[in-house]
Amino acid sequence: MVLAATFILSGFVKAVDPLGTQYKIHDYLTALGLAQFVPDLLTLTAAVLLAALEFILGICLLFAIRRRLVSKVVLVVMAVMTPLTLWLALADPIHDCGCFGDALVLTNWQTLWKNVVLLCAAVIVWKAPTLQPRLISESNQWIVVNYSALFILFVIALRSLYTLPQFDFRPYHIGANLREGWQRMMDGEDSPYTDFFIERTDDGEDITEQVLNDGGYTFLLVAPHLEQADDSQLDEINQVYEYSQDYGYPFYCLTASTGRAITRWQETTGAEYPFCNTDDITLKTVIRSNPGLLLLKDGIVIRKWSHNALPPEEALSKPLEDSELGKQPSDSATSKILWILTWFVLPLVLLTLADRLWAWTRWIRKKKRKSENSENSDHSENSENSDNNPINNNSSNMRKKIVAGNWKMNMNLQDGIALAKELNETLKADKPNCGVVICTPFIHLASIAQFLDQDIIGLGAENCADKEKGAFTGEVSAEMVKSTGAQYVILGHSERREYYNETPEILKEKVLLAQKNDLKVIFCIGESKAEREAGKQNEVVKAELEGSVFNLPEEDFRKIVIAYEPIWAIGTGLTATAEQAEEIHAYIRSIIAEKYGQAVADDTTILYGGSCKASNAPELFAKPDIDGGLIGGASLKAADFKGIIDAWKK
Ligand code: PGA
Repeated sequence: MVLAATFILSGFVKAVDPLGTQYKIHDYLTALGLAQFVPDLLTLTAAVLLAALEFILGICLLFAIRRRLVSKVVLVVMAVMTPLTLWLALADPIHDCGCFGDALVLTNWQTLWKNVVLLCAAVIVWKAPTLQPRLISESNQWIVVNYSALFILFVIALRSLYTLPQFDFRPYHIGANLREGWQRMMDGEDSPYTDFFIERTDDGEDITEQVLNDGGYTFLLVAPHLEQADDSQLDEINQVYEYSQDYGYPFYCLTASTGRAITRWQETTGAEYPFCNTDDITLKTVIRSNPGLLLLKDGIVIRKWSHNALPPEEALSKPLEDSELGKQPSDSATSKILWILTWFVLPLVLLTLADRLWAWTRWIRKKKRKSENSENSDHSENSENSDNNPINNNSSNMRKKIVAGNWKMNMNLQDGIALAKELNETLKADKPNCGVVICTPFIHLASIAQFLDQDIIGLGAENCADKEKGAFTGEVSAEMVKSTGAQYVILGHSERREYYNETPEILKEKVLLAQKNDLKVIFCIGESKAEREAGKQNEVVKAELEGSVFNLPEEDFRKIVIAYEPIWAIGTGLTATAEQAEEIHAYIRSIIAEKYGQAVADDTTILYGGSCKASNAPELFAKPDIDGGLIGGASLKAADFKGIIDAWKK
């Protein structure tokens, strides 16, 4: 929150005054001896982009949008800024770092300590990005980001650039009493007007006092550098000058330019007004427009106009004393803040509330459906409408399509994390239209659970112990698996049955313990080559189901995903043909129907496993009783695995 608030504030005040930010960048470049190599347009663009970047990063932090990416970018920003401010504090090439524009001026040492605190905060956020609570659902985050970007770029930065900063934090803001401030400076007191002197160019006379002490109105056309001043509005400027002459108001053009530039300006614009010299930095501070117009009365700033928004001709028909032009504008800072609250903050608050309400009603509906379903299955053996399988977290009664990866004993921790990250990013960018699960070695689970978006990719183990806990050296219990953040577990894989002598009885225990700990079981069955050659495949799969899962009550059986994996096809490159697989899948479904009824059979997900790859997946998945795959070898490369997942899109 501290980081978010700082970034938002700092981005906002920079965007309010893009020219001020540009001047600051220019100061830095000068301190580095690079100023002459960087064109003004580039520094101005950088100023606008820097402001927008800071503001949007702050908004993302506040709403916890793209938490991992944003926390990294924020850390990089702080890691660059902190040493930079250390250099500022030590070498003091610029007196004010400019991080909050003119709104809040810090000394270089204050800035350094501020950045050290922010850097620590950035490290914390980067270490645990997912601890940031989301204010808005992922599906609506784009609205917040785009709305904020449009607001900061167009409504604030470009508008301020075209007209004048909407909030003026400088000593020459509307309402500022220059006479008093200047007098304080002359009396040797602390005052920001140290370099404010007006000297006529023709005779070199200092007329500052005369201008500030004038009890009537005075127009000051401010053009720090006439060479770069925009002359597109020269007619309007000349009109104001004529108006000032008609009504007897003094009019001066203040510039830091020399005689030649003044002569050129007079020639090109037909200017007849007198010219005075003033320090260029002061002039840039007076008004963020080159040229810009200032109206003084009694030494007080009454109005300021950018050259793009000079007073229109109609407004120049009566004396200032009788016209709105001669009064300070009524849109005070409070009304501007209210405007921002109404048009920026309020819509975001309403959006957030609507989003939360929507998420809450969805949650209630889901909960209601769940309890209705469990009532249905309690009350009727053959409940047609129940969908109690938690793996089927979609609303329809259709069984869920799943592609599950089984990494087996592959991948060290680092490679495994890299693969899971790649998959996470890939599938977030291109959402699958089936359930996706990755089952990894135990040691990967806790690390992967930290970043995996389990709304898109479920995480599972490849095994768990058949004992609850105790002196079973080297074993990992279902409770331990669950505690990592995993939700699934593969049980009964043929490699475990064969190499680790897992019998149907042992597996029965494992299934019970897994379910007791709320893990969703992917239960593997399948015949060996010899058994298939002997035509015993149906017998074998039936015995495996009966031996370990048909003992479950219906509501628990509904939570099981079956994976049919003919042993002769696993890792051999030999796939069962789609027809062979469909035949036995249909058989498996029929025996589930015999045991639990057709509705349960129809809702049970039955995966195919054994040399399944992107090339054969579409044909296999097209079969009515094949609901996806359990993938070994081809799940070890993100692209291969994604190819299989995409089979559901064909
Ligand atoms: P495979 O393995 O895809 O490498 O054949 C499948 C499995 O054993 O689950």
